[in-house]
Amino acid sequence: METKYRTHTCGELRISDVNKDVILCGWVQKTRNMGGVIFVDLRDRYGITQLVSENDPSVFARETVIQITGHVQERESKNKNLPTGDIEVVLSDVIKILNSSITPPFTIEDETDGGDELRMKYRYLDLRRNIVRKNLELRHRLAIETRNYLDKLHFLEVETPVLIKSTPEGARDFVVPSRMHKGEFYALPQSPQTFKQLLMVSGFDRYYQIVKCFRDEDLRADRQPEFTQIDCEMSFVEQEDILNTFEGLVKHLFKTVKGVDIPELSRMTHADAMKYYGNDKPDTRFEMKFVELKNSEPDSPLLWRGAGGEAFKLFAEAELVVGICAKGAAEYTRKQLDELTEFVKRPQIGATGLIYARHNADGTIKSSVDKFYNEEELKKWSVAFNSQPGDLILILAGTADKARKALSELRLEMGTRLGLRDKNKFSCLWVIDFPLLEWNDGDPNVLASLAGRWHAKHHPFTSPKPEDIDLLNSSPGEVCANAYDMVINGVEIGGGSIRIHDKKLQAKMFEILGFTKEEAQNQFGFLMNAFEYGAPPHGGLAFGFDRLCSLFGGSDGIRDFIAFPKNNAGRDVMIDSPSAISDEQLNELHILVKKENHA
Ligand code: AMO
Repeated sequence: METKYRTHTCGELRISDVNKDVILCGWVQKTRNMGGVIFVDLRDRYGITQLVSENDPSVFARETVIQITGHVQERESKNKNLPTGDIEVVLSDVIKILNSSITPPFTIEDETDGGDELRMKYRYLDLRRNIVRKNLELRHRLAIETRNYLDKLHFLEVETPVLIKSTPEGARDFVVPSRMHKGEFYALPQSPQTFKQLLMVSGFDRYYQIVKCFRDEDLRADRQPEFTQIDCEMSFVEQEDILNTFEGLVKHLFKTVKGVDIPELSRMTHADAMKYYGNDKPDTRFEMKFVELKNSEPDSPLLWRGAGGEAFKLFAEAELVVGICAKGAAEYTRKQLDELTEFVKRPQIGATGLIYARHNADGTIKSSVDKFYNEEELKKWSVAFNSQPGDLILILAGTADKARKALSELRLEMGTRLGLRDKNKFSCLWVIDFPLLEWNDGDPNVLASLAGRWHAKHHPFTSPKPEDIDLLNSSPGEVCANAYDMVINGVEIGGGSIRIHDKKLQAKMFEILGFTKEEAQNQFGFLMNAFEYGAPPHGGLAFGFDRLCSLFGGSDGIRDFIAFPKNNAGRDVMIDSPSAISDEQLNELHILVKKENHA
């Protein structure tokens, strides 16, 4: 690491370096004045080295960039928490100030006094903090190991364009007005999907790209308007080949980056994921599977009926009565149960109430609906839920979709409360056999004009299962796709599918999605035309790279793993973007400038 500026970095010196004369460069993190002797923590990307000086303390203002020469000596009181903690550097007189710093708006240490917005505004200072820098180092490691693995398997990294064509399918596009073509717009890619398929037509056979994607959708902790995918595609493969190849990638990453051996991934159908977890990305670090007391199947259980067939109204009217058994939670106090009831009644969750049954330590079962159910009936519940003394049964009722969604949230909440969602435990699985289509009755993340139509669950290029093709006309909602998601700890880490490579089937798909022939030709003609020139069977997937990084880093949010992220409102508060542009620019872009009338 030696350069003209320095002999060592601030993370490098050890006991074996004692008595060496060294030159170091870095930022002053903090100083301790011990009556004439000053101890300085000098920081760079590699670590912190303690300096000892008898100089004027004013030289060592926080965040000043200095170059020092000094002599390495063994420390009297060693710091076991620091790799350089055995030594310190006693300064000679030569201290060169390379640049001064004004007082930073927050302390640049692991524990900082800076709030979220402030640290985002001064992100370049936040990035000096160990914790944040380590996240980017992890990101780098994951990218390198991804490239190593895929390169060995003959995948080629190919760059695809960023200024492309807008298509209303999927999320909303970010668009870029064209100066040279009046009234026309480019769009930023939501993913390189069509380009990677074209590369297969070109014969590239195995493609990947660590690539920026852009989606104008509502933001959450695991969503950014621009994010990164590990995007992959393969030719002459079946679903099984793809699952094996990318299961291999994830195992490789866990092994090389975290030293963790991941067992073979289990597989769950989409239907089972919804039935037992109410969610297509189940957190399988813990069981707590759904048990149905009433559903709409012909042999629906009758456990919801009260004594003598008298029905508890809520259950009688519900399409689905479904619950979970929380191990060891029977002792929950009234207050804790009220909290859970409030939790499920929040508007985002939308349940009307929560029914519970305590399986007490003495074996008795007491429910919040004892009026309707006698002990004998509650025993049947206990058998259905396989509850043991000490367990708590929690039940929701309502329309099937709503009850499942709400119970899924409650299950995760109980998982968290019972400490079952350990960030150092990893449960990876494939969710397979997704439905090809879903009915869009007003998804806020897509254009309103697409409501009241079938919507591709994955994207319009996903292949139906060959045995279901006949159902495309009669019952589109029942068609299964050759599509799969990789789910780790309840997060959708990646997803993909086998693609349609037949022009006729692709045209049929656009028709079902409500495109006229002209619209399909206009928007996707390039792909369908390409399919006329010998498109190989192909398929692939994309991982959410930011999500993978945050999973490896043990965090719920992806922002900390992106060097310069947007805030929750989609703004970059550091560079202040989005921002207005000048009238001159607007004019050049042929965008109408509304002049305010000051008359
Ligand atoms: P999909 O839309 O499922 O598939 O995206 C793939 C993965 O990208 C991640 N992801 C996101 N991460 C952060 N912020 C976002 N806004 C965001 N949106 C998605 C998720 C997701 O699993 N072209 C297809 C892939 C294919 O079929 O090959 C695609 O983009 O982890």
